[in-house]
Amino acid sequence: MTITAGAFAFIADLVKQMTAINLGPGKEYLVENRLASLARDAGFRDVAALIGRVQLSGDDRLRRQIVEALTTNETSFFRDRDPFNALRQVIIPDLCRKRVATHRITIWSAGCSSGQEPYSIAMTVVDHPLINSEWTVEILATDISQEMLEKAKSARYSQLEVNRGLPAPLLVRHFERCETDWRVVPAVRNLVRFQQLNLAEDFELPWIDVVFLRNVLIYFDTTTKIEVLRRVRRVLRPDGYLFLGGSETTLGLDDEFERVMLGSATVYRPRGAGVPEIPTEGAAPIAGPAARPGLGSRPSSLAGSPLPGSPPGSSLAGSINPPGRR
Ligand SMILES: C[S@@+](CC[C@H](N)C(=O)[O-])C[C@H]1O[C@@H](n2cnc3c(N)ncnc32)[C@H](O)[C@@H]1O
Repeated sequence: MTITAGAFAFIADLVKQMTAINLGPGKEYLVENRLASLARDAGFRDVAALIGRVQLSGDDRLRRQIVEALTTNETSFFRDRDPFNALRQVIIPDLCRKRVATHRITIWSAGCSSGQEPYSIAMTVVDHPLINSEWTVEILATDISQEMLEKAKSARYSQLEVNRGLPAPLLVRHFERCETDWRVVPAVRNLVRFQQLNLAEDFELPWIDVVFLRNVLIYFDTTTKIEVLRRVRRVLRPDGYLFLGGSETTLGLDDEFERVMLGSATVYRPRGAGVPEIPTEGAAPIAGPAARPGLGSRPSSLAGSPLPGSPPGSSLAGSINPPGRR
């Protein structure tokens, strides 16, 4: 069975209106595959019958379920590793210097899916030797999908999910057994605040120091990418940092961002923010022993090692681009 061009156009319009996700031509197979189980579970003969019902009745619940089924939620712990290495080795030390008056850092995972990204950020923060009990680190995690937010809030992951990207020492330290699954421990879980937010609509947020907006822009058309980047820039502090996915860029979309390399990580900063000071070995205790009252201490076996998964010699000192390189 193949859905008609009219049914596909209806679904593509619905998804575009509700999420800004662009289901270009040729995605009929995706609509059919993703909606097949929803159609079956909701008692429809096939996908065409499901779409027909929504066209006729405007059933809001079914609409939302269709849109949920058509968002791509692929994610994993410490996905792509480099951004988390840069966060630990350069950005947190930089922000600890610059925010010393307030002792407050805010990090936003925009399009957080089932939570692996914000919990990876939270583990990086909790394990960071510069972050002690004087610091307030807020991690805001948002997504358009209520279903993903529910899963993320539960902080519960299968063995298969933790096998994807999560180093064993971090599993042992930051997770507890929950029947056959694993659950993030409260000390990490409680750093993250979840909220539903549609990036394609105007939103208000507090000032943000670091934004992770990774693997979300790829689903939008150019106009929406431009609008989303503009909205993000409005809440990002002038000396803040923006991470995008590996196949995403601000180039050609928003000239107010400039690209900076931190080791092998690409980060975007508001124009004029320049390149952060890079801690040299021994100058900042990023690899030193943990001294973090209130946050527990880091096992000595990990002290001094790069974030698990860092390539050998991934120290960032001296390996960044000169200011202004784009
Ligand atoms: C592929 S996942 C990326 C997850 C994570 N950032 C990562 O890189 O692993 C994309 C996420 O963006 C969310 N998303 C799609 N459109 C959105 C929108 N308009 N506003 C907010 N989130 C959206 C989806 O629900 C999905 O969870």
